[in-house]
Amino acid sequence: MKMEFSGKTVLITGAAVGIGRATALRFAQKGAAVVLADIDEEKLAAAKEEVAAFTPEVLALTCDVSNAQQVDCTVKTALARFGKIDILVNNAALWRGDRLFIDTPIDLWQTFLNVNLMGTVYFSRSVLPQMIASRWGRIVNVASVAGVYGKPQMAAYSATKAAVIALTKALAKETAAYGVTVNSVSPGTVTDSGDPDPHASTPSSLCYMGRTGTDSENANLICFLAGEETAYLSGQNIQLDGCRKII
Ligand SMILES: NC(=O)c1ccc[n+]([C@@H]2O[C@H](COP(=O)([O-])OP(=O)(O)OC[C@H]3O[C@@H](n4cnc5c(N)ncnc54)[C@H](O)[C@@H]3O)[C@@H](O)[C@H]2O)c1
Repeated sequence: MKMEFSGKTVLITGAAVGIGRATALRFAQKGAAVVLADIDEEKLAAAKEEVAAFTPEVLALTCDVSNAQQVDCTVKTALARFGKIDILVNNAALWRGDRLFIDTPIDLWQTFLNVNLMGTVYFSRSVLPQMIASRWGRIVNVASVAGVYGKPQMAAYSATKAAVIALTKALAKETAAYGVTVNSVSPGTVTDSGDPDPHASTPSSLCYMGRTGTDSENANLICFLAGEETAYLSGQNIQLDGCRKII
C-alpha cells in the first residue's frame, strides 16, 4: 500500500526523545525510511526499536550536531544506506536551565550557538546539494516561541532560535527555484520530553488553550510541512503554541 511518505527518506536530529522521537514515529507510520540522529546513544537505540515496529527502513546514528565532521559523516552514512535524503528535520537543541543574562558565561553562549544554530547550519549544508540536484527537498527547522518573543532568563536560547528563524527565511529564498522548501515550527510550551506518551498534555497558564502542546501535535505539523501538498509553502515560521498569552 502506498502511503504519504513511501519512497521518501527523512533524517531527524535530536530524535531520541520528545518532539524528535514523535516525529520519527509519525514519519515511519506514514511510510518513510527514517534516519534518527542524536548524541544520546542509549535513548537513540530505544527510539530506533520503537520506529522499527513500523518500518524495517530505519537507521540510528550517534552524532553531535555541533561537530561539522560528525554531521558530514552521518549524512554520508545515511546516503550510503538510502541513496538520498528528501526531508531534513533540524530538531536537536539545548534549552534547559534558566539563567539571567548577567550570569551566563561566554562559553555557555558558545555552546548554545554551536548546537542550536550551527547544528542546523551543518546539517543543512551537508544535505542541501543532493536535494538541489534532485530538485526536491524539505527542510523543517524546530525553533521556538522564545525566538519570536525573547524569553527572560533564556537570552542565549532565545537568540539562537531567532537566528534559526532568520536562517529559515533566508535559505528558503535561495532554494525556492530548486523545489526545496525551508520552514520552521516554533513550539510553545511542550509536555516534558521525559513523558513517553507523545499525546501527553499538562495544564499550562501560558496560553489561552490552557495546556501544553504535545510531541505528537508538533510531529503532525512537521509532517505537514514535509509533504507533497505543501510545495508552495516556504520561508514561514509557524507557531504551534495554543494561542500564546505570555512568555
Ligand atoms: N519542550 C519544549 O517545551 C520546547 C518548546 C519550544 C521549542 N522546543 C524545541 O523543540 C526541540 C525538541 O525539544 P524537546 O523538548 O522535544 O527535546 P529535548 O530537549 O528533551 O531533547 C532534544 C534531543 O536533542 C538531543 N541533543 C541535544 N544536544 C545534541 C547534540 N549536540 N547533538 C545531537 N543531539 C543532541 C538530546 O540528546 C535529545 O534527545 C528543540 O529544538 C527545542 O528547542 C521545545
